Amino acid sequence: LAKIEIKLNEIPEGKSVTFKWRGKPLFIRHRTANEISTEKSVAVDTLRDPQHDDQRVQNPKWLVVIGVCTHLGCVPVANAGDFGGYYCPCHGSHYDASGRIRKGPAPLNLEIPPHTFVDDGLLVVG
Ligand code: FES
Repeated sequence: LAKIEIKLNEIPEGKSVTFKWRGKPLFIRHRTANEISTEKSVAVDTLRDPQHDDQRVQNPKWLVVIGVCTHLGCVPVANAGDFGGYYCPCHGSHYDASGRIRKGPAPLNLEIPPHTFVDDGLLVVG
């Protein structure tokens, strides 16, 4: 399927849920207020792949990323690692709650697929 619809009210705050999109895992994360303020305040020039959180999320409550590690393609684990986002157990890459690489061998942030918020409760990815 080229596009998928995601009902956001089924994803509780603090959870990252995995969907499948174009054969790849897709992570939708309902970020907490704490996660949002943490990610907004990261100094971009300290990052390996420098992107402000504002460049990565359309709606601060929702992180939408492809769940494929940018190192060699393993699927990272949610709510794990040193930066509170995702951890790839294959070779130890740590991503934050904006999906940005913070530590370990991965070169790039987790990819953001095209997506649109139709309304408060409905997201379309694709
Ligand atoms: Fe994720 Fe190597 S594939 S750290």
